[in-house]
Amino acid sequence: MQLDDLNAIAEKEKAAAKKVCLRTCMSAGCMSSQADVINKNLDAEVKARGLEGEVEVRRVGCMGFCGQGPLVGVDHDDGRHELFEFVKPEDAPAIVNSLKGGPCDVQRGDPQHPFFAKQVKIVRANGGIIDPESIEDYIAAGGYQALHQVLTEMKPAEVIEEITKSGLRGRGGAGYPTGLKWGTVAKSPGGKKYVVCNGDEGDPGAFMDRSVLESDPHLVLEGMAIAAYAVGADQGFLYVRAEYPLAISRLQIAIKQAKQLGLLGGGIFETPFIFNVDIRIGAGAFVCGEETALMASVEGKRGTPRPRPPFPAESGLWGCPTLINNVETFANIAPIIGRGADWYASFGTEKSKGTKVFALTGKITNNGLIEVPMGIPLRQIVEEMGGGAPDGRKIKSVQTGGPSGGCIPADFLDTPVDYESLTKLGSIMGSGGMVVMDDTTNMVEIARFYMEFCMDESCGKCIPCRAGTVQMHHLLEKIAQRKATLRDLIKLEELCDMVKNTSLCGLGQTAPNPVLSTLKFFRKEYEDLLQPDQFGPPGNGQPNPQSAPK
Ligand SMILES: Cc1cc2nc3c(=O)[nH]c(=O)nc-3n(C[C@H](O)[C@H](O)[C@H](O)COP(=O)(O)O)c2cc1C
Ligand code: SF4
Ligand code: FES
Repeated sequence: MQLDDLNAIAEKEKAAAKKVCLRTCMSAGCMSSQADVINKNLDAEVKARGLEGEVEVRRVGCMGFCGQGPLVGVDHDDGRHELFEFVKPEDAPAIVNSLKGGPCDVQRGDPQHPFFAKQVKIVRANGGIIDPESIEDYIAAGGYQALHQVLTEMKPAEVIEEITKSGLRGRGGAGYPTGLKWGTVAKSPGGKKYVVCNGDEGDPGAFMDRSVLESDPHLVLEGMAIAAYAVGADQGFLYVRAEYPLAISRLQIAIKQAKQLGLLGGGIFETPFIFNVDIRIGAGAFVCGEETALMASVEGKRGTPRPRPPFPAESGLWGCPTLINNVETFANIAPIIGRGADWYASFGTEKSKGTKVFALTGKITNNGLIEVPMGIPLRQIVEEMGGGAPDGRKIKSVQTGGPSGGCIPADFLDTPVDYESLTKLGSIMGSGGMVVMDDTTNMVEIARFYMEFCMDESCGKCIPCRAGTVQMHHLLEKIAQRKATLRDLIKLEELCDMVKNTSLCGLGQTAPNPVLSTLKFFRKEYEDLLQPDQFGPPGNGQPNPQSAPK
């Protein structure tokens, strides 16, 4: 495979494209409501009317507006785009009818709605556009050009410099500078090095990485290959949880296709560069997303964290220097190389560059996946794009960062969404879960829910987390049941402090965050549930009508 061959594939694919295209979302959300049957029926209908010469029926990845799915997009020959929502298999004849101006009563969405219009798509640019099971589609969209560029025009150090200059920070949660991490792996001595893609995605409410893997698997593979070249690795692992079977099968297809075209394996683009990728399937333990636990799991051991240092960049898989990045981090790489670090850095804020994908869920009118420039005010996301809380309710809080994050009260909706601003409020950017809560939400119950999650997911290796999460959960239940006193609340705060500061890994270190942030902003809801004791009555033990546990 050489550049001419790559371009020939792209040209052939573009020449074969029809003037009109019916795109059916074939990601997990829409697939769970018979998107595959819808696509089959559309195809049959187009053929039955002899339209196959002018109308293409394409299986695509997630379009983002998952709450309105199943979705079918229509690209007309005059440049118009239409969107059909809540499509049913029996709607196929009406949709095909509408192409020629016939009547169609299937619900139409607005492709110009702020939900779409305010997005800046870098990672999700191909989502809902290309067929995720077609490498030719990816190549026609410019795929594998960036890999060719680095292998034929750039030295590994130049690639790292470009990623550093882009300001990209890891999208797995902590926001560590990607170029700095790549540089450490590249400098670490050792003949054998590995690249690992973390697709464990265990946060409740999060599905950004699953969607990227299902919608554009080659984008992640290309990012991994570029990273491998930059750090000097020849083997990669994609770690994906077993609950993501569609993502796994699309990755398997993508790896096979890339190998067949010589874009993975030996002598890529007729250079000495070798890169192979294998998939490792996780069993769904949240802690296996933690990088040292993930590496143990890849090695076939029990997935429990170990102390750092040594960091994976120095001593990772089988003791070799290992680069671990998140799915979204890798998905940013090819666009950065292709369009340049300065272009990428033109999005976002001074310290948080580029875009971020969020899974917008909870008590919000428009549910789904959005990609927005860093620094966008939270209010724009939840009110304009998300359409606010349904049923005329008021937004009370927005939870970011999953079980490691916190609840941002509605008073702070003008906060820019970047790493620093969210941390200042006691929350974190996290990997992209964004759960909106309305004024019926009981914040003590929210804290109890996240603590229960951490308690269940604690691997039990260290005592502060193993015993501390159980005790904190017990105290939260006692408070929720109105059986606790001020002494219990003080004990809860002391435990938060102890577990945060003495746990071995990030799971325990951040498990108290939802409690601390709800205590910081919604303390009265806790106090209203307390019984009086000899230390005095902060509340009357009676439920606050706003916060009564269900
Ligand atoms: C309990 C726990 C779970 C984690 N889960 C994930 C995950 O599912 N995906 C992920 O990319 N990072 C996860 N991380 C962060 C990883 O340890 C690691 O920092 C990340 O994969 C590095 O990639 P990045 O630099 O691209 O963000 C988790 C961390 C902890 C403590
Ligand atoms: S903090 Fe929790 S999850 Fe992490 S090692 Fe300790 S027990 Fe395991
Ligand atoms: S799963 Fe179909 S639009 Fe997201």
